[in-house]
Order: sequence, then structure tokens, then C-alpha cells
Amino acid sequence: MKKSGIKKTQQALLANLINIGPPLAVSLEMLKAKSPQVPRSKGSGLHNGEILALSPDQLLIDLPEGSETTAILKMSFQNKTLELFQKPLSIKGLIPVIFKDKLCYLSHIKGENSQAALKEIATYYRKNQHIAICAQDDIEDSQRFTGFSDFMLVPKSLPELDWEDLTTQSSFLGENFSLPFLITGMTGGVENGEMINRRLAYAATKLNIPMGVGSQRLALESPKYRGIFKLKHLFKEKLFLIGNLGISQLLASADPLSLAQRAVEMIEADALAIHVNIMQELVQVEGDFKFKGAYKVLEELAKKLSCPLVVKEVGSGLDQSTVLRLICVGVKGIDVGGRGGTSWPFIEGKRSALPLNQNLGSLFRDWGIPTAYSLAKSKKIIGSSDVSLIATGGIRSGLMAALALGLGANMVGIGLPLLKAALIDDEEPLNFLKEMAHQLKIVQLATGAGKISDLPLSVVRKKHFFDLSE
Ligand SMILES: Cc1cc2nc3c(=O)[nH]c(=O)nc-3n(C[C@H](O)[C@H](O)[C@H](O)COP(=O)(O)O)c2cc1C
Repeated sequence: MKKSGIKKTQQALLANLINIGPPLAVSLEMLKAKSPQVPRSKGSGLHNGEILALSPDQLLIDLPEGSETTAILKMSFQNKTLELFQKPLSIKGLIPVIFKDKLCYLSHIKGENSQAALKEIATYYRKNQHIAICAQDDIEDSQRFTGFSDFMLVPKSLPELDWEDLTTQSSFLGENFSLPFLITGMTGGVENGEMINRRLAYAATKLNIPMGVGSQRLALESPKYRGIFKLKHLFKEKLFLIGNLGISQLLASADPLSLAQRAVEMIEADALAIHVNIMQELVQVEGDFKFKGAYKVLEELAKKLSCPLVVKEVGSGLDQSTVLRLICVGVKGIDVGGRGGTSWPFIEGKRSALPLNQNLGSLFRDWGIPTAYSLAKSKKIIGSSDVSLIATGGIRSGLMAALALGLGANMVGIGLPLLKAALIDDEEPLNFLKEMAHQLKIVQLATGAGKISDLPLSVVRKKHFFDLSE
């Protein structure tokens, strides 16, 4: 087949594929062609090919020059624990397409078992890609605009306090913690997930702070991944653990309550966080586009789940009307997850094999309500009710944490810097958080805030502070 004979319009066929770089080497075992539509093989035998991209029902294969394949008999996945294709894959036909200026073949994978196996591989790749991209690339808001730069802490030039007088204790979801820091829920991927979670849990127990886990979806679907989340009994100190599911997963479930309850029981969670990530889904190649009915599901969970319910954004911020409705349906924790830090639309664009999604990722990189604004507006809704308010999204120092606490947060959530720290060694997440705690205490003393709940007295909007006519 000549390259010139392939129409560019076939690119549309590739719309759902995700890149899997580096390509996955596979052995393609040739079968004799039975169907006249399938190019006839010169005989059976082993050939080496590469899977360049995949989706839950498609494989994009690069075959060696001159090979005329008929079917893939077996494909075993690189990781030993994921030997998925033990039965022959039935490929009805291979479609020649141009991918990155190269002639490749697209195969539609039929059959429930094969599709389920491929879906698992796709999820495996997605999680690992998220970690690799987060670790290597600049994937934060291009301006780093959290909104905190519009606010300032007014110094108390002569505070009536000693360093020993300072307390950083904070209460969150009815429990007391030693610091107002939350290790926010992050998927650690499949290969490093267990190690990352263990290192984060170590820091959480040493500092007596709460920790969220990343989405439990994969482990709910495939029990073999549950080990990644077994954290409760690793350390002798108590670990306050927050489970995690996506709103899309709940909406797609026939019985969201029992799904959520299973997630709680799987890790003995003390609370369950549901992530809402509309812009991420809209840019993600495999994203879900259905969000109707969310409040009804959340209301049922808030009423019947065995632990408090938290709703979290992941970087686009929560708007005021949403916060109000969430509180009305009984949600006990709100994480504003605002703009300024990790940008999920941008990460999803980077993962895609196609320029369409890559362009979407760049277009929506800086989408959303900056953390400080989402926080300040949410605080107006929450007032002095018992709902806990979490500020996540671009918090990178104890000074930023102090501003967030001053704007009314009960806890500040930290994501990306802790992921990077957890990839270094056992101690790094703990060291990072200790440094942040030290910075926070410096701000406390310099503003005369002996306790965290004093910080709001020192926060002002710069615009007002510098207006001398006021
Ligand atoms: C590698 C990585 C994986 C994440 N996975 C999840 C997840 O599974 N569920 C979730 O609710 N949030 C997830 N998040 C989002 C974080 O909880 C947080 O909302 C976001 O990263 C913004 O905080 P940051 O700017 O401090 O990173 C993830 C973040 C990172 C960096």
C-alpha cells in the first residue's frame, strides 16, 4: 500500500486514541487470513510490531516494512502483572492510516473481553502518563495566577508573642490536626502508586495531617490494584484518609451509593471526596460529557454514606452558586481546587495523540476561577457553618498557605509539589511540609497571629490597603 493512497480524512478515525510513548513493542503472530477483506499473509509466524496509540476499542499498529498481517493472535502487555491478551484477538480488518507522516494500521478490537482488557491497558497508561507528564513538564497555569497576589498580610510590627506561643492546630471535618495542611488526593499511577502513597502517608502520620488518595476507580474495577491504597495500618500513628471517586464515575453507575460505600470500605476512609473536573473531561480524549443528575446523587451520598462527603474541583475553581447547592444537599467539605497550579486540561492535551486535543489543552490551560477568589467567595456562602473549606490549587509556600487561611480556609491542600517530592525519596514529602510549616509560623509571628484562626484579621486586599484615602 502506498502512502499517497491514504486519505487524510482517515485522521478522524484516530480521534479517540491516546499516544503511548515510548511505543509498546508487541509480537504479532500471523494467522492465515479467513476473511477476504483482510490482507492475505504470506504465512503464519512471529513478526515484531509496535503499538503506537490505543483507545478502549482501537489499536494503532506500526508494522515492519513489507509485512502483510492478518491477525494478532496474542499480545502480552509489557508489565508481567498485566498479561491481558491470553486469548486470540479477533481483528476483522486493518485500516491503513497516516499517523505522524507514517503508514500505520488501525484495528478495531471486537469482543467484550478484549475490549475490557484494552480499557484496562488504556487506564494503566493514562495514570502512568499523568505522573510522567506532571514530573517532567511545566503543566501549571501559565501565569501561576492563583489570585493570592491581590491580597497581603499586614505585619504586626511588635507582636506580644514568642515563637513558643504559636499553635498551628486546626480542625477539619470535626477532627483536630496539628497543621492546617491536607495532602490532596493524587493518583500515583500503577507502577509507582504504592510507593507514592506510602511516602505521602508517612508524612501525614508524622505530622498528624489528613491525606487524600487519588481516584479509586481502577482498584474498584480491578481488585488486583487495591494494594496501592492499603495505607491505614502501615504506620503506628493514626492516619485520617479521604477516599476519592469522580462525579462521572458515579453518574455512570447504576448504584452510585453502593459504589461510593465500596470505595470507603476498601480503604477504611474517614471521608470520601468526589472530584468534579468538567474542563478536564471535556479536553480528555476518553472524557465523559454527561453531568446531569449530579446533585441528586450527591444528596443521596451525603445522607446515607457512612462518612462525611467532600466535593473537590481539581484546578478550575468552584463558583459560588455551585458551592451553595453543594451545601444545600449536605456536603460537609468543599475543596475549591482553583486555578493557578496544576492545569488538568493542559495535561490531557499533552497526552493526546492528535493536534485537536493538544490545541484544546493549550487553549484551556488557564481556565477557571483563581484559588483565592473561589475561596473568598465560597467563604461568604459557608459563613460560620460547620462545613469545612479547603483551599487547593497552586499553594506552594507557607506564605501562600497563610493567605489562604486568612481568607477563610480551614485547610490548604497541596498536590503537585508533594507528588514530585514523593518521587524523590521517603523523607522528601515530610521535609517539604515541615518547611512550609516553618514558613507559616514565621507569618503567624510576624502578623501577631498566635493561632490559625487569628490569621483572617491580618489579610487585606492590596487595592484597599494602598488606597490612602480610605
Ligand atoms: C499527579 C496528580 C494526580 C491527581 N489525581 C487526582 C485524582 O485522582 N483525584 C482527584 O480528585 N484529584 C487528583 N489530582 C488533583 C489534585 O488533588 C489537586 O486538586 C490539583 O493537583 C491542584 O493542586 P496543585 O496545584 O497543588 O497540584 C491529581 C493531581 C496530580 C498532580
